[in-house]
Amino acid sequence: MQIISDPLELRAALRMLRASGGPPLPRSVGFVPTMGALHAGHRSLVQAARQRCDVVVASIFVNPTQFGPNEDFSRYPRTLEQDCQMLEDERVDVVFTPAAEVMYPPGASTFVDVEGVGERLDGASRPGHFRGVATVVAKLFHIVQPDFAFFGQKDAAQVAVLRKMARELDFPVDMVICSTVREPDGLAMSSRNRYLSAEERRQALSLSRALLAAQTQADHGEQSASALLETMRATLQDEPAVRVDYLAVVDPDTLLPLENVAAGALLAVAAYVGSTRLIDNVLLPPRGGNAGVSGKKKS
Ligand code: PAF
Repeated sequence: MQIISDPLELRAALRMLRASGGPPLPRSVGFVPTMGALHAGHRSLVQAARQRCDVVVASIFVNPTQFGPNEDFSRYPRTLEQDCQMLEDERVDVVFTPAAEVMYPPGASTFVDVEGVGERLDGASRPGHFRGVATVVAKLFHIVQPDFAFFGQKDAAQVAVLRKMARELDFPVDMVICSTVREPDGLAMSSRNRYLSAEERRQALSLSRALLAAQTQADHGEQSASALLETMRATLQDEPAVRVDYLAVVDPDTLLPLENVAAGALLAVAAYVGSTRLIDNVLLPPRGGNAGVSGKKKS
């Protein structure tokens, strides 16, 4: 496995890798962008890339522009050695580890803003967050030029923002969205779980419990978004260390609120558990019968 921090060197290595090996040539490139502190969720993305693509590239870059001034950029876990070991075990071909000055040279002032979607859910709670995400992913796409890029469904709002960006900026990249990976007790895998004390971790389980309760209610025929929101709220309010940031029943593409979930919906939650902000979500599939768009709220 090659570890490369210079974009030009990466491009040269990828030119070789695309052209090497047997037919079919050029070989397909799968890309898994990460901020490191890798866990089983990242492993599943890399495995999906390995299964589908000839060449697998992962990036590790803690992107400063997606953190707000009072967020955890400086204490975000940096575990490069263990991360590279995991990537090597999963037969990744190249790891890209650029420095911040390389991604953002002094005076850099060009950003990608996905208006509307980028200001909803986490974009509303964390102003500027998705501008940072879209900018760095656009830059990484230009540098790596992947055929496929792999993202986790756990970051559902990020998925909506990046899909729209890729479509509207004509990136020739197939976006592959992989299911959320959970601990056996239901907690969604996150690099930030390591901030939690044992008691906070116990209370953090209320996020997945709340989603499961609402999902079960929907499975039994409840279609009203406000009823599902109430179920989630009731589950979360039992835990004193949990402070809800948002609870949402939205269209998974536009992130606009829905009144009725018959046509499918994203149930999403963000909450502080102690001082750690966690997110989680489930996708409700469209229900049979009259699953039109009448439940969509006009914005
Ligand atoms: O999902 C993440 O880890 C980050 O937001 C990403 C996509 C690597 C951009 O920094």
